[in-house]
Amino acid sequence: MFKRLNVVVIFVLAAFAMFAVAACADGEDNPFGTTTPVPAGEVADSGSSEPASSGPDIGNGESKFTGLGCSGCHTTGTDKLIGPGLAGISSKGDDYIRESITDPGSELVDGYSNLMPTSFGDLPASDLDDLVAYLNTLN
Ligand code: HEC
Repeated sequence: MFKRLNVVVIFVLAAFAMFAVAACADGEDNPFGTTTPVPAGEVADSGSSEPASSGPDIGNGESKFTGLGCSGCHTTGTDKLIGPGLAGISSKGDDYIRESITDPGSELVDGYSNLMPTSFGDLPASDLDDLVAYLNTLN
């Protein structure tokens, strides 16, 4: 009976001691205020659920290349289909690539006919950027 009471008393004392230590440590960490200081960077980030803008999305460019049917006429290598293979196209520059997509008839590649659809001029600017970025990765 006594033994059992002792155990309870010791347990209660121990719990109280832990509480006291915890309260003390808290006071030492932040003796002047009640709020926890947050580094400036975290404050700026908090609340924003939008991804940081990180330039064109090459993955989206690649899926557009197949999804829009570009791959039906163009290989990503050097083989010709209806249109030229697009490996190494980056050497012609972003502006040329962009215009080849939005206004294909403006400058025909030697030996090819004006068979590329003109409808890609209506692509959203971001998809166009992503396509150009993707084509720039082809070697
Ligand atoms: C119906 C077939 C066809 C489709 C679909 C097509 N193209 Fe073309 N493309 C061509 C042909 C033919 C040429 C060459 C004649 C010319 O310059 O317009 C060409 C030329 C190009 C060029 C210039 C290549 C060079 O070597 O200078 C680029 C870049 C290009 N296409 C990208 C695309 C992209 C990106 C898509 C999809 C959004 C696409 N094409 C869809 C047929 C096609």
